[in-house]
Amino acid sequence: MIDTIKEHLEEVKKFSSTSKEDIEAFRIKYLGKKGLLNSFFAEFKNVPNGQKKEFGQVINQLKTSATEKVNTLKEALENQAETQGEYGDLTRPGEPIEIGSRHPISIVKNRIIDIFSRIGFNVSEGPEIEDDWHNFTALNLPEYHPARDMQDTFFIQTDPDILLRTHTSSVQVRYMENNQPPIRTISPGRVYRNEAISARSHCFFHQVEGLYVDKNVSFADLKQTLQYFTTEMFGKSKIRLRPSYFPFTEPSAEVDVYWGLETETDYRMTKGTGWLEIMGCGMVDPNVLQNCGIDPEVYSGFAFGMGIDRIALLLHQIPDIRLLSENDLRFLKQFKSSL
Ligand code: DAH
Repeated sequence: MIDTIKEHLEEVKKFSSTSKEDIEAFRIKYLGKKGLLNSFFAEFKNVPNGQKKEFGQVINQLKTSATEKVNTLKEALENQAETQGEYGDLTRPGEPIEIGSRHPISIVKNRIIDIFSRIGFNVSEGPEIEDDWHNFTALNLPEYHPARDMQDTFFIQTDPDILLRTHTSSVQVRYMENNQPPIRTISPGRVYRNEAISARSHCFFHQVEGLYVDKNVSFADLKQTLQYFTTEMFGKSKIRLRPSYFPFTEPSAEVDVYWGLETETDYRMTKGTGWLEIMGCGMVDPNVLQNCGIDPEVYSGFAFGMGIDRIALLLHQIPDIRLLSENDLRFLKQFKSSL
């Protein structure tokens, strides 16, 4: 038996061909499912123990050289086809490449970053899996604070201290813990809330948080900054600040931008009022500064937070928030932009 295999080994070594069919026949003969190699392998159990080792070695040798032979011959065949020009004119111009498009969330996010970077804000990020301290407690929301219910939270089942962040305000805390004023930073990112999914709300979405801390920062600075932002972002400079409540700011406000009532869409979007709510904001609560290691006697600051998805829906007249996470190419291809 071993001798027969050795003869085959010689045969394999000698074999050469430039015909595709012959090479394929050779491959099937040795390496095919019902080929010689498989039948030799099947014989293995009948080989007397004393010969098993040598038998094993030669069939493995046969397998390796048959495989190598097939590969080398096939490769030679392909090279030959190429040099003979079987692939046509290799100098012909290529197919045009289709240019991709950015996701509408990225387009809006990049515009916001661009607008704030022009007035000295840098970009900071934090983790999406947060702890209670950064998402709630440090932001003046101690345990059992009723305002925790404002945001339905996804907790990690095995550890009540770990959660999916409900807002990017958590990055404020991390940034202040690690940097001393002057601070000018915006923090874009994904946030999660345990909410029923519908055309208007999703269980994950995106926010941009803004934070400015320095000596003598006032509410007037906040208003001016927001006005600059709405003018650059929407081309609209008329805003109003409505008193509101957030645990981490005092005083707090909600920001409406005057969209106008010129078209039917304006009318529908603003529910006939002309005003559109775009973000929450306020002066950073002294407790928050204190919690993050910044002296509230020396420094003050303002903060704001807005939803990116909402702005994207608004600017692009997208009727359903779910379109933003379905990855339907017919939808995504409509957003060609340089930003
Ligand atoms: N974190 C708030 C939310 O998710 C938004 C917000 C409001 C952020 C006021 C702020 C702020 O920084 O000052 O609803």
